[in-house]
Amino acid sequence: MNILIVGSGGRESAFAYKLSQSPRLKSLFIAPGNAGTGKYGENVSIHVNDFEALAEFCLEKEVKMVIVGPEEPLVKGLHDYFLSREDLAHIGVVGPQKQGAMLEGSKEFSKEFMVRHNIPTASFAAFTAENFQEGIEYLRKQELPIVLKADGLAAGKGVLICNSFQEAEESFHKMIHEKQFGDASSTVVIEQFLSGIELSVFVLTDGESYKVLPSAKDYKRIGEGDQGLNTGGMGSVSPVPFADDEFIKKVEDRIIKPTVDGLKEENIPYKGFIFIGLMNVGGDPYVIEYNVRMGDPETQSVLTRIESDLIDLLDGVISNTLEEKEYKVSPKTAATVVCVSGGYPGDYVKGKVIDNIEHVEDSIVFHAGTSLENGEIVTSGGRVLAVTSVQETLFEALQQATADAGRIFYAGKYFRKDIGFDLLD
Ligand code: AMP
Ligand code: GLY
Repeated sequence: MNILIVGSGGRESAFAYKLSQSPRLKSLFIAPGNAGTGKYGENVSIHVNDFEALAEFCLEKEVKMVIVGPEEPLVKGLHDYFLSREDLAHIGVVGPQKQGAMLEGSKEFSKEFMVRHNIPTASFAAFTAENFQEGIEYLRKQELPIVLKADGLAAGKGVLICNSFQEAEESFHKMIHEKQFGDASSTVVIEQFLSGIELSVFVLTDGESYKVLPSAKDYKRIGEGDQGLNTGGMGSVSPVPFADDEFIKKVEDRIIKPTVDGLKEENIPYKGFIFIGLMNVGGDPYVIEYNVRMGDPETQSVLTRIESDLIDLLDGVISNTLEEKEYKVSPKTAATVVCVSGGYPGDYVKGKVIDNIEHVEDSIVFHAGTSLENGEIVTSGGRVLAVTSVQETLFEALQQATADAGRIFYAGKYFRKDIGFDLLD
């Protein structure tokens, strides 16, 4: 089968790596890809939101399956576009249509969906410029800290946790009246703060049945000891030791089943991944957010533990036969350490030559922000590489991935040396 992956990060590199292991793969294309994805397939210089060019490319290369990595093309309707054209009817798209993508595209929609289906989540209310004053009154009645969320996509930056009412009111004003996050914050969700430990659970669904993929924990802050600014993710671990069978059963019964059934009941077609961000509050799971895609760098730790053929599973999603598909997960632990450009998540330089990747033997180096310039691999983004090691124990996986992240060289390299060590006893 010929397959096209849409995206260019570490997540898409992990998809390319995993798909390239399948005997069912004929040709793999990645649009636009990065310096590392070229190892598994052919990079194609098409923007992720250029639906027409993606479609023409699929027709030209006889692509049968399109896997969409990031949320933006899904929220903008890439899948709907493919369904709208008869000449593309034979091409399956993994990733929900616009309506399903609202689970990530609108916090208000996703919170209301959870309420309709009795899915545990923090209490909330949503406000716009029209009922701004009501919002202020609502805020004043809540307990601190209080969480403010831009309703729309805000590149992972639209969530503010406020420790005083003054801060909360000022932020609420900035979000709504000064468009702090552009149109994304014209509606703001005010939400109860949940105290607990975060983790993520991933689900693959064809809209009828589902497979619960391995759990993972992501490390979002730039600094060691979870200090400093939020990033896209500095590392990940799978499985999550505290997410034992009992906890995962609660997640399945209280969250996953009602989510998939709820989509079905509301006639919202959904083929693809659901990434459920959870808070473990005293042993009970609460949904913090849904994403309609896989996480980055969680994908690197999740896919490397899946032993079944990924093309087979995704084919099951497209043809509504997921239930029949074999699905096996390795009991080993995967750890991923992300190497970033100095200065990230603020300003950083690009174009630094990357050396020594070939000296890494016991980890997989997934490229993220890299490109090829005059035959050399250079940095081209904030998150540059994700180094993943799969080992018998959590300790070995962490040690190996961290040591291997240290073997790679480029000017300004930074990585956290404490990823996952909080999970060791
Ligand atoms: P989100 O973009 O919704 O994932 O939120 C970003 C981060 O903010 C999450 O990963 C949590 O760490 C934190 N967060 C979001 N909502 C809540 C909440 N209700 N209670 C506590 N922390 C939250
Ligand atoms: N690592 C978090 C995300 O992909 O959104």
